[in-house]
Amino acid sequence: MRVVAVMNYKGGVGKTTLTANLGAVAAARGLRVLLLDLDPQTNLTFSFYTVTDWQERLKDGRTIKQWYDGEMPGRDVSLADLVVTPERVNKALVGKGGQVDLISSHLGLIDIDLELAARLGGATTLDGSKRKFLDLHGCLRNALQDSQFHEYDLVLIDCAPNFGLVTKTAIVASEQILVPAKADYLSTLGLDYLYGNCDSLVKQFNDFANHNRGTEDQWPIDPQFLGVVFTMVQIYSQQVTLAQHGYIEQVRLNSQVPLLENKVRNSPRHFGDAGESGVPAMVRTSAAKDEVVREFDLLADEILGALELTLGGAR
Ligand SMILES: Nc1ncnc2c1ncn2[C@@H]1O[C@H](COP(=O)(O)OP(=O)(O)OP(=O)(O)O)[C@@H](O)[C@H]1O
Ligand SMILES: [Mg+2]
Repeated sequence: MRVVAVMNYKGGVGKTTLTANLGAVAAARGLRVLLLDLDPQTNLTFSFYTVTDWQERLKDGRTIKQWYDGEMPGRDVSLADLVVTPERVNKALVGKGGQVDLISSHLGLIDIDLELAARLGGATTLDGSKRKFLDLHGCLRNALQDSQFHEYDLVLIDCAPNFGLVTKTAIVASEQILVPAKADYLSTLGLDYLYGNCDSLVKQFNDFANHNRGTEDQWPIDPQFLGVVFTMVQIYSQQVTLAQHGYIEQVRLNSQVPLLENKVRNSPRHFGDAGESGVPAMVRTSAAKDEVVREFDLLADEILGALELTLGGAR
């Protein structure tokens, strides 16, 4: 099982679109994929379920909000009990051997995130506050150790565009971090800041874990940056536009976050509907006929290859 956080605290850079499409393409290649929606905006969930379906079937009992809620995440609800199998995408995947499962989000997660952060305080001893830090930040990591999750080849976590506590639990839980970004000034500016913040979190977690060593859930973490994926890349006459090319090269040469070679092209025709059909565009359309799908397939080759999840080597 590979756990990958898809994150960037810049909003609207294509995190959710990449998560939905990559998850579906991986499943179309025969992998068992779990998508975890950790964004209160709930966009990943709505890429697979209609709002009505979510309201009637998931909202009150089967969202990640129920899991994070309470004194300590997961104390009252098991993460495995929240997994659902969206029908429309899996119908489109019949015969491919893989599956997409989902843990859905909830708009109320925003309040829980703030409450969780408040819970970090309040311990009366230094050891107590370190223990609390480890328990809260490590909660998702511990939950994903459950044997029921071992059947998945790939867990993709769609993060909210912030660095709140829920996002931090995703980083602690992940072996790899994938960073979608637009090739523009503001998006590339934040990448090293993001890298630095993740690095500080990991150092703090490991520092506390070393002091509290004793149980398995406290072993040091070492999430790696899988890389930056440029999204919404504008291509004319088979070339990336000059302005975007400049930003991409700047990241290649100067950023601490490595750069993935393949990119997601700007294509409102493919990616603009934000998942209304319940089936991500990259598995709806045949690669034989479509250049954008072929390009996305190359990106999936690069990412799944780096994760050693090519068929035969999976699990
Ligand atoms: N490659 C693309 N080409 C054209 N439009 C795209 C592409 N990728 C995403 N979009 C569109 O851009 C918008 C933002 O994408 P998306 O929701 O995936 O970003 P996000 O980073 O998850 O946003 P947020 O930070 O709000 O969670 C959506 O309307 C989506 O349909
Ligand atoms: Mg999103």
